[in-house]
This record gives sequence, C-alpha cells and structure tokens, in this order.
Amino acid sequence: MPAIQPDLQQMLGNVQPIVVANRAPLALEAADVFRGTPERLVRGAGGLVTALSSLAASTHALWVAVARDDSDRALAARGDPADLVTEDGLTYRVSFVQPEPQAYDLYYSSISNPLLWFIQHYLWDLAREPIVDTATRYAWREGYLRVNQMVADRVIAQARASSRPALVFVEDYQLYCVPGMVRAVLGDVRIQHFVHIPWPTPQYWTILPTPIRDGILQGLLGADVVGFQTRRDVRNFLFTCEENLGLVVDLRGRTVLYEGRTVRVRNYPISIDVDGLLAQARSDEVLAEEALLLSWRPEKLILRVDRTDLSKNIVRGFLAYERMLENHHELHGTVQFWAYLQPSRQDIDDYRAYLGSVLSIAARINRQFSRGGWTPIRVEVDDVWARALAGYRQFDVLLVNPIYDGMNLVAKEGVVCNQRDGVLVLSENAGSHEELGDFALSVNPFDVDETAEALYLGLMMDPVQKVARAERIRETVRAADITRWIALQLQDLREVIG
Ligand code: G6P
Repeated sequence: MPAIQPDLQQMLGNVQPIVVANRAPLALEAADVFRGTPERLVRGAGGLVTALSSLAASTHALWVAVARDDSDRALAARGDPADLVTEDGLTYRVSFVQPEPQAYDLYYSSISNPLLWFIQHYLWDLAREPIVDTATRYAWREGYLRVNQMVADRVIAQARASSRPALVFVEDYQLYCVPGMVRAVLGDVRIQHFVHIPWPTPQYWTILPTPIRDGILQGLLGADVVGFQTRRDVRNFLFTCEENLGLVVDLRGRTVLYEGRTVRVRNYPISIDVDGLLAQARSDEVLAEEALLLSWRPEKLILRVDRTDLSKNIVRGFLAYERMLENHHELHGTVQFWAYLQPSRQDIDDYRAYLGSVLSIAARINRQFSRGGWTPIRVEVDDVWARALAGYRQFDVLLVNPIYDGMNLVAKEGVVCNQRDGVLVLSENAGSHEELGDFALSVNPFDVDETAEALYLGLMMDPVQKVARAERIRETVRAADITRWIALQLQDLREVIG
C-alpha cells in the first residue's frame, strides 16, 4: 500500500481522523499446520476494509472497531488503542469496543445482517418475510442501539482525549445511529457517514416499525455529510428523508435540513488502490498460486470471486452457465467455471442455507455435464487473497452478477489485475455499473438467458474488442482510484469545516 499522496495529507489538515467501522482493518488468523502458516495478522474481509485501510494506515487514523470474537478480543488485549503491525510493516491503531457476546449477536446476527442488509439489497420475499415482532424490537434496543451507543461513547472519549479536533468517518449499516449519538454529546464536531451498500426506495423502508426506520434516518442525519456509492442511492435517500420523515430536502443541491443544520448528501464511488493492488498481484505468493492455477486451468476460464452472500446471486450465475452449456455443446470440455467463494456470516441461518444451495446446484450441474475427466464447475470455499489475485490474473470472463450491490470492488480489482484482457459480465444493479457499464457486458441479474448469452459472447469476443474494453475499464478505475474517493470526501468536508 503506497503512502497517501501528500496533498491529501495536507487536505486533512490539523485534525485527528477517526475511522469507525464494525470490522477492524485486520484480523488475527490462527496458525495453520496444513498450510504451514504461523499465526498472523491478515486484512479484514469485505470491500469496506479494502477501501479504508489505505486511509487509516497512511494518515495514522485511529480505527474504532467492534470486537467480534475471541481473536478480536485477543487483539484488543494488546492495548487501547492497540498498535497492530502487518507483515508488510504498516501500523494500524485500533481501539476495540467489546460488547457482551449476546449483545453483539443481536446487533450483528439479528438486526444488521438479516434485517438491514436484506432491506437494502431487496432480498425479502415480502409475501412471507420478514415477520416483525417483539423479538425484533428487543434486538434493536438491546443489540443494535446498545452496540451503537458503546461505539459512540468510545468515539467521544477518543475525540476528547485528542489534542487536535476530531474528524469522524463512520462506516456502513451496522452503525447508523453513531453520528446522532456523537453529535448529541459533542455538539460541534465534524462527522461523515458513508453507506457502502445500496439505499432502497422510501416504500421499502416502511417494512420496519416507525421508531426503527426513523431512528436510522435521525442517526444518520447527525452527520455533516452522508455519503453513498451512486447517484441512485443519493436520490433514494433524499426521497426517504422527505417521504418518511417529512423533512425539507433540496434535490438539486442534495441537502436535507435537519434540526437547524444543513446535511449534505453526496455520492463517492468507492474504488481501489491500483498501484498497491498491482504490486500485490505480482508478489511471489500470488505467482506461486498462479502456477498452481495454470496446472489445472481450462482453455477458457470463467471466474467469480464473492463472499457467499445472498445478494451476490451465485445460484443464478450457475443456472446461466448451465444454460450456456445446453446451448453450446462445442464448449464442453474446454470451458470451466471457477467459483472462488469466501464463507460469510455462517452464524445466520439464511446464509448457511444459501451456501448449501450454491453447493448443491453446482454438484447437480457437474453430475449432469461432466465427462471424460472434464468438470464444468469448480467450487472452492476458502479465503486466500493470493489465490483470488491469481484468479484475477487468469480469467477470460469475470462474472459479477449481484442482485443489488453497493459498488462491488471485484469488478474493479479483477479487470485491473487481469493479464488476458478478459471480459467483464456485469449486473446493471451493481454500483460499479454506473462507471463501468459501457465497457462491460451488462446483464439483468435475474435473467439467466441473458446472462448465459453474455457469458458466451464474453468467451467468444474478438481480441481487438476485448483489449479495447479492458483498456477502458483499466483507465476508468485508474482515473477514479481510492485516492480520488478519499480526496472527494475531504474536499466536501473542508467546505463543512470552513
Ligand atoms: C460489505 C459491507 C461491510 C462488511 C463486509 C463484510 O463490504 O459493506 O460493512 O463489513 O461486507 O461483511 P462482514 O459481515 O463479514 O463484516
């Protein structure tokens, strides 16, 4: 990870940045005798951590996180804040909040993921679910609000302890109430909240009981700036403030008037550290993984890299591939679909069941089509970053077909690292579609016929077109990389600071 550019340092000025997120930027990975790896600090999972690590490491920001399990608690025991040093010598300062496991469970496994994540990705089958009842209200109070309050208290304490004024960056749907809670105590403090996932329409929010949905909006409006990934999210948020809270919003100026303050609502498409990623993708560890991959890779490789999340639409991806195999027998034996999947949220029933159906659909398709040593789908459920990077280098087609997705950094990372001018098949409902859609093959993620056709076109595309498309994507990502994502936010915050 390169040092953040000097002008960003300057833009930050004389402030103490505090990043606030559910996850720490690092996790402690236990020693693995089979792989021969010692206990080590690895980067935390998900797009949020990927994006914010650059900011935190290079500005010596303090990172307030929630201890999720015993290994986080072991890190917390190293100090408050704990100075955690990665293998490549970067230091992160992390202050862990340690809720009781039961409160954490209600916050994470009852409200944040099964409820808010589902609403924000339109995952509910509303004729049947969700059923909102006393248990929901209990989990909101004793889990979500309780953990948000603990986090806010820690931010307040750290801000007071700092000799410089705090600039607070709160992240994502697990911590919607933190800005309001911090503002209530500190009053004059600069806060930005960035929502990494889609913001649905006002009507869809009315699934939640009024005190909960109002609490979310009021919490967020404690910030000076509320950031989203796309223009669509900004519009939906403004409409939600207007319709559900009756607030005065300015659609052109993208502001909301709340308790005498003007809250700015902006979109900042999140991105990647291109140079840092390319350096990692050329490391010995990745090249060793790539050599392994080359020992089994088919002539034509379709890749997907995803957490095993319902929003990622893994099952329809397999069904589309099956459709393609039905339509194009000539590809049998030469193509393989490698699904490299990171286990996610396995403490939640729906997620466990989903992983089960992903595996069983892949097995069914393999039973149906395998012949003469050819297996059409290779599923690997594992989380080795170097292996994902090796896959990025080698794909011919990258399938990114989420139902809805805030941004989806795999689309950006994959094409930037790829060595074969591979083709991106991209859902029109991924946030990254606003930037990359013109150069990808766009698909409606629900339409398996259209997706099958896009997979086929991607595999068959002529080399000149492939180079042109891949080039345009690489240029677009490079021009709007992670530094720009941070710079745009700091610019707006400077206006607020005055
Ligand atoms: C997405 C979310 C993050 C979340 C990550 C991993 O990127 O926007 O807030 O941390 O997924 O999910 P997990 O539940 O494993 O932290």
